[in-house]
Amino acid sequence: MNEKEKFDKLKLEELRTQLEFFRQLGVDFLVEPHRQPAERPIDNSSRPELISGEHFQGSEGDQQAEWDRLIQKILNCRFCPLFKTRTQAVPGEGNWKAQLMFVGEAPGRDEDFQGRPFVGRAGQLLTKIIQSMGFSREEVYIANVIKCRPPENRTPRPDEIKACSHFLLKQIEMIRPRVIVTLGKVATEFLLQSSRSMSELRGHFGEFQGIPVMPTFHPAYLVRNERNKQIRKMVWEDMKQVMKLLKS
Ligand code: URA
Repeated sequence: MNEKEKFDKLKLEELRTQLEFFRQLGVDFLVEPHRQPAERPIDNSSRPELISGEHFQGSEGDQQAEWDRLIQKILNCRFCPLFKTRTQAVPGEGNWKAQLMFVGEAPGRDEDFQGRPFVGRAGQLLTKIIQSMGFSREEVYIANVIKCRPPENRTPRPDEIKACSHFLLKQIEMIRPRVIVTLGKVATEFLLQSSRSMSELRGHFGEFQGIPVMPTFHPAYLVRNERNKQIRKMVWEDMKQVMKLLKS
């Protein structure tokens, strides 16, 4: 076998693995990658209700500067004691003009080391879900309710959420996504202000300040229950609804 044949075989193997994963997820069709314009024009008519009521009206450059300032504030934040135990804060990642935003709970160990959201095992699964939807990680925005890792990955405390969540709210206000997907209970409870179970809430759009919110199971839950095809299917059903809404 020559070098080219070896390379093709390797690529084919990679593709087979990827397709097998999609099959396990319950993906029953493949989506062409979205061609989202890099610069999404601001459309006042479809603007969701603003979170602070004082929407920023500046030029493109001013908006970028404001976004950069927000990220710097997160990186330097000392509003709660978690700054003492973090390696670094994890503001979020992706396109801050994205149509689709994912919100998780808090950075874990890998995220705390790398300064990037959802890069551990659960993150790799989230990346595959995003790709199955026809997007890349760079095209969507991925953030968490709180920006610093709670010790031992414990659930964030209400006082930590209170101290930190204004950063997420500002991110949502600036991104103004068309849809938000909340991953797991903490993000869902925070944005939908509902204490109903994830099984009850998933699969139905809720709303946050005029923005449709689709709650779904946290990818870490999928990782913990990797043999449970039913849970994967439910997540894929939820994502299909999101894709449908984005196409409308
Ligand atoms: N779990 C989360 O909720 N967020 C991350 O960034 C990683 C794991």
